[in-house]
Amino acid sequence: MLEITGLHKSFAGFVAVNEVSLTVAERQIVAVIGPNGAGKSTFFNLITGHLRPDGGRVMLNGRDVTGIAPHRICALGMGRSFQLTNIFPRLTVFENVQAALLAHRGKGRDFLSRAEAMFRDETMALLASIGLASQAGTVAGVLAYGNQKQLELGIALASDPKVLLLDEPTAGMSANETHETIALLERIAEQRGLTLLFTEHDMEVVFRIAHKIAVLYQGRKLAEGAPEEVRANADVRRVYLGGHA
Ligand SMILES: Nc1ncnc2c1ncn2[C@@H]1O[C@H](COP(=O)(O)OP(=O)(O)OP(=O)(O)O)[C@@H](O)[C@H]1O
Ligand SMILES: [Mg+2]
Repeated sequence: MLEITGLHKSFAGFVAVNEVSLTVAERQIVAVIGPNGAGKSTFFNLITGHLRPDGGRVMLNGRDVTGIAPHRICALGMGRSFQLTNIFPRLTVFENVQAALLAHRGKGRDFLSRAEAMFRDETMALLASIGLASQAGTVAGVLAYGNQKQLELGIALASDPKVLLLDEPTAGMSANETHETIALLERIAEQRGLTLLFTEHDMEVVFRIAHKIAVLYQGRKLAEGAPEEVRANADVRRVYLGGHA
């Protein structure tokens, strides 16, 4: 589904992502872990087109998408969420998801129909699937933090992605919110046959849901493998897991 080869990016001479390769199979759940500043978000931004790589290649489902615009990559089936949320805080929960559906499929819409009615059933169905149906009328900015991240997932799902990249989906959440979000992600991935690539600092989450783990350290890929292999890797324990698992 994703074949990343030798991805490279430097900022004014500082190498943030150094020749990183990674393969993600269809329906696989892959975690990218590593200490703060390891290059995880930069790596994701290179994959989704939000940053242009200096070198390397990104293949999505057999198609070269290296360096093309984020909205085009999105249209080809790659969704994402951000480390900090990316919702419209003054719109309602309903309007946030509706706007995302319109942005993705709104072409050729009937301008005579009332905005509110557009994609109403689909919006409600999507909200139900992410557990936010009862909050449809709530202004997004006042939602609990965990619910805002859930809403962001809903916005990402509106483009009907095959692959979803999630940058710290549980960052800033309480233990309870983390638990609910992970259960939700597992359920949605299963229902939709999604391929997931995510970064996460919570090692309990990582070791519970990842089929494969890649470890970044100072921009380089330090290790990659099944969770148990990575947990046992001496280099990984030394630079990262020592304090985490
Ligand atoms: N636009 C930029 N300009 C200059 N340096 C940058 C830029 N973006 C990231 N960096 C640097 O690149 C390195 C990797 O940053 P990145 O945000 O990818 O790390 P990360 O692994 O996501 O960290 P965290 O776990 O804290 O989210 C850091 O040293 C960061 O300061
Ligand atoms: Mg980051």
